Amino acid sequence: MKKIMELMAEELSAAFEKAGYDPAYGRVTVSSRPDLCEYQCNGAMAGAKAYKKAPFIIADQVADQLKDSRIFSMVEVVKPGFINLKLDESYLASWLNEMATHEKLSVNTAEQPKTIIIDYGGPNVAKPLHVGHLRSAIIGESIKRIGRFVGHKMIGDVHLGDWGLQMGLIITELKHRQPELVYFDETYTGEYPSEAPFTIGELEEIYPCASAKSKEDEEYRKEALEATHLLQQGNPGYTALWNHILNVSVTDLKRNYANLDVSFDLWKKESDAQPYIPEMVQHMKDEGYAYEDQGALVVDVKEESDTKEIPPCILLKSDGASLYTTTDLATIVERMKLFNPDEILYVVDKRQELHFIQVFRCARKTGLVKEDTKLSFLGFGTMNGKDGKPFKTREGGVMRLENLISEIDEEMFHKIVENRSVKDKDAQETAKIVGLSAIKYGDLSNQATKDYIFDIDRFTSFEGNTGPYILYTIVRIKSILSRFKENGGDLEAGTLLPAVGISEKNLMLQLAGFGATIENAFEEKAPHKICAYIYEVSNAFNSFYHETKILSEEDPMRKQSYIRLITLAKRVLETSIDLLGFTAPDKM
Ligand code: ARG
Repeated sequence: MKKIMELMAEELSAAFEKAGYDPAYGRVTVSSRPDLCEYQCNGAMAGAKAYKKAPFIIADQVADQLKDSRIFSMVEVVKPGFINLKLDESYLASWLNEMATHEKLSVNTAEQPKTIIIDYGGPNVAKPLHVGHLRSAIIGESIKRIGRFVGHKMIGDVHLGDWGLQMGLIITELKHRQPELVYFDETYTGEYPSEAPFTIGELEEIYPCASAKSKEDEEYRKEALEATHLLQQGNPGYTALWNHILNVSVTDLKRNYANLDVSFDLWKKESDAQPYIPEMVQHMKDEGYAYEDQGALVVDVKEESDTKEIPPCILLKSDGASLYTTTDLATIVERMKLFNPDEILYVVDKRQELHFIQVFRCARKTGLVKEDTKLSFLGFGTMNGKDGKPFKTREGGVMRLENLISEIDEEMFHKIVENRSVKDKDAQETAKIVGLSAIKYGDLSNQATKDYIFDIDRFTSFEGNTGPYILYTIVRIKSILSRFKENGGDLEAGTLLPAVGISEKNLMLQLAGFGATIENAFEEKAPHKICAYIYEVSNAFNSFYHETKILSEEDPMRKQSYIRLITLAKRVLETSIDLLGFTAPDKM
């Protein structure tokens, strides 16, 4: 279905052409002066040079061609040559009626659907999820949903970190604490009890403890490195322990992600890529890409146009151990083999940008991906506390995701109970739903690449540019609709009539922008554009609501039209928040 902006642009282009000018000048934009007009075309200004004519003359001639247009109710030329436009109310209403019957509310699905692997979440096994992982999960989940909505095959992969030194550290600490465990027995062959010798709580205490020890105690660190090495060599006891660590961790992670309404199609791990390493390395050697440098095996990835130094990719260290880079390269090999994707998109902290520049260049140079497979990096900024420093607990520790969520839920609970519109029994459940909107909207409403301040007070407010405000608006619409229905109204009947009021028309204009917003948000991988959009829609709805007696409207056709309008507003808002990754309650 054609967007309203496209239809206007077509009309303008045709007018330019009929007046004897290049139709390319017929571009239409949203007005920068909403007090004067709704849309504008600046093509005459652009064309003035090419045609050596005053822009005002061109604009006048173009406007002449639009006299009988049924799309516009106003076409006005203003000095020095702008064409100011207002949409015709009947045209707008009939377009919106069509939008309401369109399965995707005017969003066109991709003509050539792409297979896109999206690598997000990226938690590390045995380390608790912390707020740093929150952004990746929230942004990645939203982009996955938007991509799916516009028709692409999105494959979300959590890409668990299960292969680094952290495993060796945990195993070492376990060995110190419980040397009698069967897994440390020299004769152990691989049969192991199904019960893990630790709980998730213990595991989360073991890692930081081991990590701290390894920083102070050189001997301990060596032991951990050796344990990592043995694990990577397939030592049966260590492998069994690693399996336990993985199981206990993954169970806990799944619970955490479920609380965030984040889900993955694949639970692949760094270790899954290990079998691809030997052949990949051999290929890079055979083709002459990889060479030895001070004992390590490296591939040059610098390019002439570089303005800063891009160091070579290290494939293998001098002791033959592989690195984070090696794993990411081998993961690309695996992904190409299993899914042959058109794109792999990484949603990772922007401080890892150099790593991904190296990995992408190396993968391309050595032919790990086909030429038209895109490798993209969406690097996000840091979530800071009010002091502008990375978010911490009151005690100054790393804030665990779970604690952060319960803090928000509690805050929400108090506000909801204060409002007294929800029974105590349901308030807890509602607080969770609204709390999630506070966290996700608070994050997504900022451009992903920027740092932002996590401000619980602001994010949980029912007023302003917040998740709870958006939900409040949806709940308000739901309540009008259910009162209408209780009074015997038919929610499906009637059609949208041309707007009579200004706030009514403004709401219609806002709703008409849905399709372009969603398509653009995907194009630019920018969920914040959806946030900005639904904030405008909510404001437009609330002005309309305050100025209009919806349920006490006497003209039945007009009343039915209001119902159609707010139903469409509800669908636009609900679809949008679903793409952002949260839902609205019935009451709050
Ligand atoms: N586990 C990593 C970390 O916590 C993030 C993984 C990102 N994805 C990737 N393919 N490297 O830093």
